Amino acid sequence: MPIEVQLQHIKKTFGHFQASNDVNFAVEKGRLIGLLGPSGSGKTTILRMIAGLEQPDSGDILIGGRRVNDVPAGKRGIGFVFQNYALFRHMTVRENIAFGLKVQKAPAAQIRARVDKLIELVGLKEFGGRYPMQLSGGQRQRVAFARALAPEPELLLLDEPFAAIDAKVRKELRGWLRRTIHQLGVTSIFVTHDQDEAVEVADDIVILERGHVEQMGTPVEIYQQPRTPFVANFIGEAMHIPDYTIFKGFENGTTEGAHEGILRPEFLEIGANDHEMRLPLASEDGIVRGVYFRGSNAEIDVEVKGQLLKGTRSLEKTPLHEGDQAKVFIHRIYSFAGGRTQILENRAKQVDSVVI
Ligand SMILES: Nc1ncnc2c1ncn2[C@@H]1O[C@H](COP(=O)(O)OP(=O)(O)O)[C@@H](O)[C@H]1O
Ligand SMILES: [Mg+2]
Repeated sequence: MPIEVQLQHIKKTFGHFQASNDVNFAVEKGRLIGLLGPSGSGKTTILRMIAGLEQPDSGDILIGGRRVNDVPAGKRGIGFVFQNYALFRHMTVRENIAFGLKVQKAPAAQIRARVDKLIELVGLKEFGGRYPMQLSGGQRQRVAFARALAPEPELLLLDEPFAAIDAKVRKELRGWLRRTIHQLGVTSIFVTHDQDEAVEVADDIVILERGHVEQMGTPVEIYQQPRTPFVANFIGEAMHIPDYTIFKGFENGTTEGAHEGILRPEFLEIGANDHEMRLPLASEDGIVRGVYFRGSNAEIDVEVKGQLLKGTRSLEKTPLHEGDQAKVFIHRIYSFAGGRTQILENRAKQVDSVVI
């Protein structure tokens, strides 16, 4: 697939604050990209520079192979949906959607046809004559989406489009957005600080931290191979382990020496006793410190060698209670020694597989 958007060595400061610090990434045509990072990591700044609403101090922005640094916002072929880029209150749904085409002085019949198509696409056919005030938050954002798409942009930018919408509707809108964007095939970049949203919606995720890209990849790649401790901590649930060589099966560490690690709940197996463990000799003794019902399973806080770990346990098994003894087998640990991620598997499993 050809590259649709490319950011090359983008730097941007506001006063002394470095909002973009050598940002580089490329987006293939038709992909849906999630720009994910904590608040203040520079997500909106990047979107605004792509849109032409802000100028980088240095670096190039290419859209469709063309350098657009000096192209004004209105001529970049971009549609945007911003959280607070409100609809025009005094215009109906149809008029809102038609707005961009009217500005372009498109013929009336063409505008009508395009609005018909888009209002159908966003599922608001019955609401064409309503005003924004008469719509729910989710409906308004769908109108904003249709309005952004009306002039057939090459690129669609969305900045936290669902942030102001309540949780249940937000979840529906995510699925809807993903399906609709793929159906249209329009290259899109959406910003979010919510990892669940990014993982659920995006084809590829760009993780930003303090104005630079920590990692770019598919949700699965980022989840399974976090390149940095920041990414491992930010995506999924992560427990920081100052020295993992205290645990059975990981005593040797790595040749690089540093023994800090990160554990995820799904790397742990928690049993009530030896009989429940596949490898009892390689399991640690623990004490249950907390049990939380999570619908499909129980989340268990368990203390092992003075470290509080978090794991899960099936509700089908004997329930554990606070204060109970437990057995804990640690399947794997992420190590970041030597500046790269290594997935360390418990040695007992390797030995076991050799014996079998
Ligand atoms: N127009 C501006 N003027 C001054 N500082 C700004 C401006 N825009 C952004 N910033 C600074 O850059 C930081 C990062 O901003 P932003 O890109 O909005 O982050 P994010 O969208 O990830 O929360 C902000 O916390 C703010 O301090
Ligand atoms: Mg923002």
